[in-house]
Amino acid sequence: MPKTIKWGVIGCGGIARRRTIPEGLTKASNATLAAVFDVNSTANQEVAAQFGARSCGSIAELLASDVDAVYIATPVYLHCEHALAAIAAGKHVLCEKPLGMTVAEAEHMAAEAEKAKVKLGTALMMRFTAQHQAARKLIVDGALGKPVLGRAQLSCWYPRMEGAWRQDPALGGGGSLIDMGGHCIDLLEMFFGDVKKVSCFANTIVQDYKSEDSALAMLWFENGALGMVDAFFSIPDASSDNVLELYGTRGSVHAKGTIGQASHGSMVARLEGGAAGYDAQQSRTVAGEIEIAPEPVNPYRAEIEEFSQAILDNRAPAVGAAVGIRSQRVLAACYESARTSKAVDVL
Ligand SMILES: NC(=O)c1ccc[n+]([C@@H]2O[C@H](COP(=O)([O-])OP(=O)(O)OC[C@H]3O[C@@H](n4cnc5c(N)ncnc54)[C@H](O)[C@@H]3O)[C@@H](O)[C@H]2O)c1
Repeated sequence: MPKTIKWGVIGCGGIARRRTIPEGLTKASNATLAAVFDVNSTANQEVAAQFGARSCGSIAELLASDVDAVYIATPVYLHCEHALAAIAAGKHVLCEKPLGMTVAEAEHMAAEAEKAKVKLGTALMMRFTAQHQAARKLIVDGALGKPVLGRAQLSCWYPRMEGAWRQDPALGGGGSLIDMGGHCIDLLEMFFGDVKKVSCFANTIVQDYKSEDSALAMLWFENGALGMVDAFFSIPDASSDNVLELYGTRGSVHAKGTIGQASHGSMVARLEGGAAGYDAQQSRTVAGEIEIAPEPVNPYRAEIEEFSQAILDNRAPAVGAAVGIRSQRVLAACYESARTSKAVDVL
């Protein structure tokens, strides 16, 4: 087995070009970028030239090459088709979130990957942000006490644009909820465990397109804690702090800007049971807050290194298909709740 995983990218012209290739695939210690494909031939050639990869003329050509793994960063309605093609070619697949359009697609992709004995990962990269891992440790170590409430927010201004697949639920699976709220729900599940019931409102109140531009989901976790996620396409970027708030019986965590594409934001903890057990670098503010500022980790690099290492070690990836399926289940319950105006169990 090689020490380095050779990667191909399907859909290299969007987030792949902006983040995952420059920050992840070309920086990871155990990965190399070998080949790319995009239907936009200009993007295809430019990305290949910029990052020293082979520009393939088709998905078939990319899959016939000797890449070990394929990162799929095409629009959501193409995830299942592209993942199944890569799996059938015997490639490991890291698929951008959400894992397909529906629970059924996500399950189908997972079943095919299992049959083909290849790994399937979900690119929910915000799990890797160092401050999120530090907050998780505070919860696991009991420093926050019993979790009671979590809030996660991710919003931006996303006006109507010609050809924007996110603006049509038939192409994106939905709008702000699935696109950005999905990250928030996933993070809260990483902190508090599975959601058992949801109640959600989703609407299009500002922008001129079919997908929802406004969504508020209330979550009830198996452990009894409550949560809320707000994701809007109708709030100007600088007006949203993209907050993360976690409350427990012994303290809380408050963050701004850790949710998003950056490597870090600001995060403080208030630990009323004392800070014993919290061993990361810490400084106390006047209000008795502890700044949570571990060495930043680039989440795109971390997700590529983790998935590559899972292949090299022949173990399950940390953010595998089960996480992607789980995310789809909660999102599906949220959309059903929004449609029916009823609380919905997560199946
Ligand atoms: N985790 C993150 O930080 C993050 C951020 C943005 C987007 N995403 C996810 O990444 C995926 C892509 O989103 P985006 O914003 O990059 O979209 P995008 O539309 O900007 O880019 C998608 C790319 O896929 C290409 N494409 C379309 N059809 C194709 C086909 N049939 N074959 C090959 N290439 C094709 C397009 O030409 C384009 O270059 C989505 O699943 C989205 O949710 C994740």
